[in-house]
Amino acid sequence: MKGVILAGGLGTRLSPLTKITNKHLLPVFDKPMIYYPLATLMDAGIKDILIVTGGNHAGEFLRLLGNGKELNLKEIHYAYQTGEKGIADALRLAEDFADGDKIVVILGDNLFGESLAPYVEKFSKQCEGARILIKKVSNPQKFGVADMKGNKVISIEEKPKKPKSNYAVCGLYMYDSRVFDFIRKLKISRRGEYEITDINNMYLREGALAYDILKGYWTDCGTYESLLRANILVAKKRGINLKGLL
Ligand code: G1P
Repeated sequence: MKGVILAGGLGTRLSPLTKITNKHLLPVFDKPMIYYPLATLMDAGIKDILIVTGGNHAGEFLRLLGNGKELNLKEIHYAYQTGEKGIADALRLAEDFADGDKIVVILGDNLFGESLAPYVEKFSKQCEGARILIKKVSNPQKFGVADMKGNKVISIEEKPKKPKSNYAVCGLYMYDSRVFDFIRKLKISRRGEYEITDINNMYLREGALAYDILKGYWTDCGTYESLLRANILVAKKRGINLKGLL
């Protein structure tokens, strides 16, 4: 299986931090943010990785990660997204790289507190379709939200004003090769983006969307608060005594 890290966008919610670098290169405790999704994929046994980025600071990824050898990656590939038309639009650029294989897609600002290897393993045994991860959160209106009936996901809504559950859809998606056909069928959303949630709903309508509920922590880093949270979670994991610091 191959891995795709989506690290584009302008990171406007983090301005002015993102005026001088790409969001995914900002520090999270002792490492640039992009190291975390890289480590998550590698821990799940994925060593052939494509990074999709864009904007004014794309060259910095090459300076940081080079050809991936220092990080023990088999290969690292780069793609450049022009225009900021959303996550599904960025994923479009991964079609040649995927070359018919299944892919694990991770958003470059998503940090996971547990190994995702068991979920990726389940997907490798799944004949076809897609697999997502969901997690109970206190602020679901900020995410894609899974509407559940019993233990079934019946629909996913992107950033709903009135969420139908507390289950956010995390930024880790596993897809078979049909994902690129689905992307071609996508229509641009009201906020001017090609939504990953629409892709997940297409799989759902075909009865081909499996899911797992995450046990460990999960956060993104798209806002000042969530970036701070990510720093605190990683520091805690590293055994830093936060009370002693303050
Ligand atoms: C994106 C997705 C959303 C998902 C979230 C996870 O939101 O659109 O469905 O729950 O990532 O981080 P965005 O980062 O664009 O706010």
